[in-house]
Amino acid sequence: MTKVAPSILSADFAKLGEEIQDVVEGGADYIHVDVMDGHFVPNITIGPLIVDAIRPVTDLPLDVHLMIEDPDKYIEMFAKAGADYLTVHQEVSPHLHRTIQLIKSHGVKAGVVINPSTPAEAIKPILQDVDLVLLMTVNPGFGGQSFIESVVPKIKQIADWRKEMGLSFEIEIDGGVNKDTAKLCVDAGADVLVAGSAVFNKADRKQAIADIKEA
Ligand code: DX5
Ligand code: ZN
Repeated sequence: MTKVAPSILSADFAKLGEEIQDVVEGGADYIHVDVMDGHFVPNITIGPLIVDAIRPVTDLPLDVHLMIEDPDKYIEMFAKAGADYLTVHQEVSPHLHRTIQLIKSHGVKAGVVINPSTPAEAIKPILQDVDLVLLMTVNPGFGGQSFIESVVPKIKQIADWRKEMGLSFEIEIDGGVNKDTAKLCVDAGADVLVAGSAVFNKADRKQAIADIKEA
């Protein structure tokens, strides 16, 4: 069964707790938290304080996507704030094994993420060390962008390598996922679909999550 991770980036921040509750009741599997620093991506969003504040709202895993430069500096803070998954971009992690080890040393599941234009080969050497591979299907920075379909073969490539190498990390897709694009991702081998606007911009979140899962 495909998992759905609603991205709170598209939630109403004035009532964030209620918004999270709503998607939890609607069948969400993870809560996706988009952390942006205004350097790696052209937007600034939330930090460890918010992760700490939402931690008591749900028992679901908090899937924290770090779109920040120098992630090593902030891993401990996010771990202490209650992140269950911490995902770092390959593009800003020159010492990727060290960064992944650092995440795990805090008892947090470790993920690696690549942008649409970064080849799958860039993360092949780290696959055996991660719990999650996140593939961006938009250029990170904003919710509500269009799905970049040329990433789909990369999903299949990662899924094929996972099988060949006998590994069991999850494959997660982020950006422009809706009930139409979800099928492309799942057919290619995705396990977890992040959805921001396709969930939070709908009045009925339960239906929106079900629509994506059905695809
Ligand atoms: C993009 C973020 C995504 C974003 C997805 O930079 O990493 O998680 O919130 O939003 P939608 O689903 O609207 O593309
Ligand atoms: Zn994200």
